[in-house]
Amino acid sequence: MSLFPSSTREIPRAGDVPNHVAIIMDGNGRWARKRFLPRVAGHRRGVETVREIVKACVERGVSYLTLFAFSSENWRRPVEEVSFLMQLFVRALEEEVAKLHANGIRFRVVGDLSRFEPRLVRLIRRAEALTADNTRLTLTVAANYGGRWDILQAVNRLALARPDKAGSYTEDDLAPFLSMAYAPEPDLFIRTGGEERVSNFLLWQLAYTEFYFTPTLWPEFDTAAFDAAIASYRQRERRFGRTSEQLQSGREAALEETADGGGVRQKNA
Ligand code: IPE
Ligand code: IPE
Ligand code: MG
Repeated sequence: MSLFPSSTREIPRAGDVPNHVAIIMDGNGRWARKRFLPRVAGHRRGVETVREIVKACVERGVSYLTLFAFSSENWRRPVEEVSFLMQLFVRALEEEVAKLHANGIRFRVVGDLSRFEPRLVRLIRRAEALTADNTRLTLTVAANYGGRWDILQAVNRLALARPDKAGSYTEDDLAPFLSMAYAPEPDLFIRTGGEERVSNFLLWQLAYTEFYFTPTLWPEFDTAAFDAAIASYRQRERRFGRTSEQLQSGREAALEETADGGGVRQKNA
C-alpha cells in the first residue's frame, strides 16, 4: 500500500494552496539568446529562480516542490552544454545544501543516476541523508528523469518482488515502486517558457493534476509569477470524474452537516 491516496481510486482533498507543485523549468536558453549570451548563462541564472521559488513555497505552505532539471532526453544536447549542466548541479549542491538543511527542507533526487559521475551521485546521496528528517518542504529535483523510465523501473521491480502475482498487478501494488512514492500526486503542474507539453515528466503522477502554462521564461519566473499560477489553480474546479452538479450538492450537504461549513472543498476558491 502506498502512503498517499491515488487520484484515480479515491478523491483527494484539495485546499487553497497546492500541497504539491511540479515545475518544468523551461526557457533558460531563450532567455540567454535574447541577451546575446551563451545558453549556459541562462542555466546559471535559472538557479537563482530556483532559490526564489523554493523560498516562496516555504512561505506559502506548499509541502512538496518537484523541479524538472534534466530529462532522460537532454543527453541529446551538445556535449558542452550537458557537462556545464552537470557542473552546475555539483556546484549548486555544494553551495545550497547546508542552507536547505538550515531551513528545514528535505532534499530528494529522482531519476536514473547510473549515468552520473560518482562524485555527483555521492553529493546527492549525502544531501539526501543529511536532510532526510526535515519536514517543512520536500524539494525534489528530477535529474535524468523520464516518466516512461519511472513506470518501467517500477514495473520491473514489482515483477521481481511479486512474481506470483504477475498478470493481476493493481495500482496499489505498483505505487510503492514509483520513484516518488514518498510524495502525494502533484496538485499543480507549471511549465514556463511557452511550450505546452509534458516532455516525459511525471506521466503516472500527473493523472489529475491541474496544468498551468506560461510564456514567462524560467529565469524571469519570480514570486509574483508563481502567485499568478496559484491564483489560477484556485479558480479550478477539480472534479475527478464527477459532474459539477455533484460537487455543488455535496458542498450544500456538507454546509448543512456542520455549523462551521466544513467538509471537502472541491472548488479551490
Ligand atoms: C530548460 O531550459 C533547462 C533544461 C532543459 C536543462 P532550456 O535549456 O530548455 O531552454 P530553451 O527551451 O532552450 O529556451
Ligand atoms: C524539458 O525541457 C526538460 C527540462 C526542463 C529539464 P526541454 O526544453 O528539454 O523540453 P523539450 O525538448 O523542448 O520538449
Ligand atoms: Mg527547453
